[in-house]
Amino acid sequence: MSLTDISEETKRRRTFAIISHPDAGKTTLTEKFLLYSGQVSEAGSVKAKKGGKSARSDWMTMEQDRGISIASTVLQFTYQGNVINLLDTPGHRDFSEDTYRVLAAVDAAIMVLDAAKGIEAQTLKLFEVCKARNMPILTFINKWDRPSLDPLELMDQIEEAIGVQTTPITWPVGPGGEFEGVINRKTNHFIRFTRTSRGATAAPEDPIDLKTATGLEGEYFTKALEEVMLLDEIGATHDHELFLAGETSPLFVGSALTNFGVRDLLEAVIHLAPAPTSREGEDGSIRKIDDPFSAFVFKVQANMDPSHRDRVAFMRINSGHFERGMQVTHHRLNKPFSTKFATSMFGSERDTVDEGYPGDVLGLVNANDLRIGDTLYAGEAIAFPPIPRFEPELFWSARPTDVSKTKQFRKGLNQLDEEGVVQVLRDLDAPTASPVLGAVGQMQFEVFSHRLEHEFGAKVEMNPTSWVVARRTNDDTAQKIRELRGTRVLGSLDGTLFALFDSTGRLMRTINDNPEWVLERVVETAG
Ligand code: G4P
Repeated sequence: MSLTDISEETKRRRTFAIISHPDAGKTTLTEKFLLYSGQVSEAGSVKAKKGGKSARSDWMTMEQDRGISIASTVLQFTYQGNVINLLDTPGHRDFSEDTYRVLAAVDAAIMVLDAAKGIEAQTLKLFEVCKARNMPILTFINKWDRPSLDPLELMDQIEEAIGVQTTPITWPVGPGGEFEGVINRKTNHFIRFTRTSRGATAAPEDPIDLKTATGLEGEYFTKALEEVMLLDEIGATHDHELFLAGETSPLFVGSALTNFGVRDLLEAVIHLAPAPTSREGEDGSIRKIDDPFSAFVFKVQANMDPSHRDRVAFMRINSGHFERGMQVTHHRLNKPFSTKFATSMFGSERDTVDEGYPGDVLGLVNANDLRIGDTLYAGEAIAFPPIPRFEPELFWSARPTDVSKTKQFRKGLNQLDEEGVVQVLRDLDAPTASPVLGAVGQMQFEVFSHRLEHEFGAKVEMNPTSWVVARRTNDDTAQKIRELRGTRVLGSLDGTLFALFDSTGRLMRTINDNPEWVLERVVETAG
């Protein structure tokens, strides 16, 4: 494989995730991307999984019972000669730390907002992680076929909530519900909105130049033209550098359900979103894309197939050419690692893959030695920075229902902590005291309990604790906190100290009374 080939292959790759609040339209949009890329011939094939109708997945029984997907799916498809890797960020009830970790493996994100709702809680959380990484974000305002907020108001709201200025590329003609089409500010065309029946096939699009459209269109068009002029005046215009730095976000308006605006957004993924570039190692060294193979693990999924009891470690390639079966080095264990069982995932189906390039995400099956954050490499050694744990938001206790299973319980607890299934928070001064389990989503506890019982043979009883909020702290502050009521200091596997509080009010008062204490929120900063 020549260096030119690696660089050419990398240039045509786009690796991104869609972030949204549940119900904003992420699944619909994903499905439409597949429709437009020719991956599926008719919309409906991905979505069916959600309803459980065509769920072919035989992953965890829990997953079957609920008809939801616990695993982050990685979809790879081609569009106009480009290779697109779309990583799923689980939402709804399956929201977990994995959702955040996926963002460590992408180069850009699409933020999907519901036109009637704007920024919602879950988008905000995911957005903070993107922002901490200075990740470029494309904004898609969905459901314009229904009543919506005013578009200028939406722009203000986004800027206020997340501090990012949006630079509309397409601008709506007509308010939501009376949608007539969009003005594309880049091509200076008007594209009329045509309702397609649930968008089973691509939407008809006949761009008309603005001058011609002025003669044909009515009041809404005139108003939209005025608004577009205003956008020019206030400088809400795409600036590529600012976008790549995560400071501005190109905005698109559409309706995923009826396919409108989907093509513009896909084109933007190709023309605006960045291809994979060099990544920095833990020691500050730079791994260029055409350096020898390197990758890092951002997610480990166990027991997707109970009949095989396997573990799939998902890695993102950062440099070089990957060939299945190649011998690489496992950095943490400093030993050779075989990559015989490399797969790609499409929905719930697995395919063996033979090669990969920077930006690609591959699953390594039966990779029992791999943990989140591990680096694999060929050639010169490299270790990518660890993926930090996130500040837990839910705190539960766990104990084996049968005390004779305490040993199995401890073993499982340690392993699932290492795997990142939950965060085990321990009293560092009393290591045998009952731990508190921390998570960002309820699903993490359910996976924990299921796996402890089925893999380690220890049935557990789990209960919510009185802790409601945690902040990262240091030794000095921890000592003072230990003297307060309604708080407790616990440590996680990587040695991070967390101060837990029994109410947000108490946390606020503690911060107000002691502004010099270290009580920080944990937002990812690794590169
Ligand atoms: P999510 O993955 O972000 O949770 O959202 P999803 O795509 O499942 O969409 C949530 C609901 O919003 C779905 O309706 C979907 O059809 C609808 N929707 C998505 N995009 C649009 C759009 O552009 N316009 C309109 N009007 N609706 C949209 P549902 O009733 O929950 O499911 P279904 O019965 O339609 O399948």
